[in-house]
Amino acid sequence: MSLQLNRTSFGDPLNTGNVLSKEQANTLLNEWVKNDRLKLHMHQVAYLMKSWAAEKEGLNETDQWRWEMAGLLHDADWDQWPEQHCRKIIEELESRNIDPEIIRAIASHGPNHFGVEPVTRMDQMLYAFDELSGLVHAYSLMRPEGYSGMELKGVKKRLKEKSFAANVNRNEIADALNRADLELDNLIPFIIEKQQITI
Ligand SMILES: [Fe+2]
Ligand SMILES: [Fe+2]
Repeated sequence: MSLQLNRTSFGDPLNTGNVLSKEQANTLLNEWVKNDRLKLHMHQVAYLMKSWAAEKEGLNETDQWRWEMAGLLHDADWDQWPEQHCRKIIEELESRNIDPEIIRAIASHGPNHFGVEPVTRMDQMLYAFDELSGLVHAYSLMRPEGYSGMELKGVKKRLKEKSFAANVNRNEIADALNRADLELDNLIPFIIEKQQITI
């Protein structure tokens, strides 16, 4: 099974600025995704994207929603059509005339799987948050106190343990951080802080 998209351009530049409303995006998510764990992951990544856009990139509310929407829908097709991940959601958003930057970010959230390079800041941050968010959440589930009192060094220790959350690809985390020009020491505390809000 190959998920390669074999494409480099997404959406139509004429649709720049077109977004779904929050209600439309949530309806799509709830119709397509039945798995609660995956839903939570998508909400967590969405909140990280929105918070990063606001606090680190200084973007306005319109742009914050564009970032949030990319996070919210990036895995929308994974639950029901894993063999079409992320082709199906891309085609859906193209048919709804959505902003090409949002579609591109979704298309590049796994460059090793989909063959699309993360280029924009939105692309880079979605890729970086995607796997790291999952690892931090897995760690919260094994701690009796959950997120409370979680520390950077604990997460880094788990990251070094290959058997912990073994489905989280450590090479991809390193690759994503490298592309985003960020360190674990910056990104993990941000994820711990924001992620406890979405649970
Ligand atoms: Fe994905
Ligand atoms: Fe994901």
